[in-house]
Amino acid sequence: MSEMKRLAAEKALEYVEDGMIVGVGTGSTVAYFIDGLARIKDRIKAAVSSSEQSTERLRAHGIEVQDLNATGPLSLYVDGADECDGHRRLIKGGGAALTREKIIAEASKTFVCIVDPSKQVGILGRFPLPVEVIPMARSLVAREIVRITGGQPVWRDGVVTDNGNWILDVHGLAITDPVGMERDLNQIPGVVSVGLFARRPADVVIVGGEPPVVL
Ligand code: 5RP
Repeated sequence: MSEMKRLAAEKALEYVEDGMIVGVGTGSTVAYFIDGLARIKDRIKAAVSSSEQSTERLRAHGIEVQDLNATGPLSLYVDGADECDGHRRLIKGGGAALTREKIIAEASKTFVCIVDPSKQVGILGRFPLPVEVIPMARSLVAREIVRITGGQPVWRDGVVTDNGNWILDVHGLAITDPVGMERDLNQIPGVVSVGLFARRPADVVIVGGEPPVVL
């Protein structure tokens, strides 16, 4: 699958325009995108990063990383996903970076999602849904998730997000109403963000292959 990820990432480079400040996601697919971006780094102004991991890789390539508060709205955000449905709605957060990813997606005019074919599903939920929670609310949020969704939340023990929070992965879901579930889970006190990207889905999904497929 890594070659499929690389092919999707290479295709996404076509969306980068001269002088852009590029929003950059997190994960192994995005790592290929960052490596590609390094080849054209003289054409871009800077990047905004969704994680410490991506910041490190960007800086290692000599790409300047700017604060979103300083840049204002972005033209382009490129990120991967754990699942993608036919409406370009996503599950994200396998790498625990969902909150910053959601912030940058919201701030961006065009969100290009890069995936390998294994990420495509009919109904979201086979991949356990990540939810970032304030640590003291972990049990409360888990009980509410069971009540609202019927799914089984599992604490991603030992993982602390870049924001100092914890992750619950919700198993056993078949998400037939992604927008409704995203809204309902966001209401639980202690939830920082939900790894469903349905209210603000991707604008373009590139599925790696020869040739890549653009949805
Ligand atoms: C990180 C994410 C990633 O985009 C998602 O986990 C996909 O990762 P990969 O490209 O390694 O398969 O949401 O929080």
